Amino acid sequence: MSNTKNVVRKAVIPAAGLGTRFLPATKSVPKELLPIVDVPTIQLIVQEVVDAGIDTVILVTAKGKSKIVDHFDLFPELEEKLEREGKHDLAEKLRSTCNMVKVVSIRQGEPRGLGHAVLCTKQLVGDEPFVVLLGDDLVDAKVPCTKQMVDVYSKYQKSVVALMEVDDSDVPKFGICGGKEIEPRVVELDKMVEKPKLVDAPSKMAIVGRYILTPEIFDMLESTPPGKGGEIQLTDAMARLMKSQGFYGYRFEGKRYDAGDKFGFLQANIAYALKNPEIRPKLMDYMKSVVESGEA
Ligand code: G1P
Repeated sequence: MSNTKNVVRKAVIPAAGLGTRFLPATKSVPKELLPIVDVPTIQLIVQEVVDAGIDTVILVTAKGKSKIVDHFDLFPELEEKLEREGKHDLAEKLRSTCNMVKVVSIRQGEPRGLGHAVLCTKQLVGDEPFVVLLGDDLVDAKVPCTKQMVDVYSKYQKSVVALMEVDDSDVPKFGICGGKEIEPRVVELDKMVEKPKLVDAPSKMAIVGRYILTPEIFDMLESTPPGKGGEIQLTDAMARLMKSQGFYGYRFEGKRYDAGDKFGFLQANIAYALKNPEIRPKLMDYMKSVVESGEA
């Protein structure tokens, strides 16, 4: 195998969704730019990519989403103003956002599902493995989730998907996998079903939004008919790739937040705020006072 076949250098981040769960906030602001404390969710995702040693991010956007790409541009006027005012740390923070990684974008003309969004990147990805990260899934981990997955890919040279055990009631909200654990945390998969009923689910191991895919996924996507919800489902194409090439699941270490859900978004904000030494003591006092006053 050639070198590019072994190394994961590109990340695809689908960001074309309408964000209806956050209306009216997302009427004119892409949901990917809603902040966790002071950092947009998309920047946290891109940071995870950078921390895994990946050098190119491919954003799949749509009408009304160009501000996401702007976020990774230089803004010299603002940087100069901050420097003049002596706010060097803030100016550096702005600069580092642009220097993080190479960002390119492609539009998904019609909302035809996650599988179709990934298919839109076929030419930009080319003939090499790549990672897909879903912006709604934030994973807080000592070793970034994407890095953990890249390590599994390096060892097995097969596609890998992140897995997490979910409650019965959540099974129909996820892609669900079945398989056999071949070493701690690594599962050799034999089933993948998109959002099954609990009775039809092969297990309670749910797909979380981190995938490392071999380029053959594009052939599968091209011939995958619309599935659940009339959309081209990534899980359906992955199930076919599993049959032809094999596929692994990885029970990652870390805590996942569903930033696409109002409660999950608040949980993520509280968790990340508690990690900030300036905010932590004030937030702890505030939460205590809310509980004690019975306002909660
Ligand atoms: C998507 C995938 C699903 C996966 C989930 C993880 O669903 O289709 O397989 O389990 O992301 O967040 P969505 O939540 O976009 O409906």
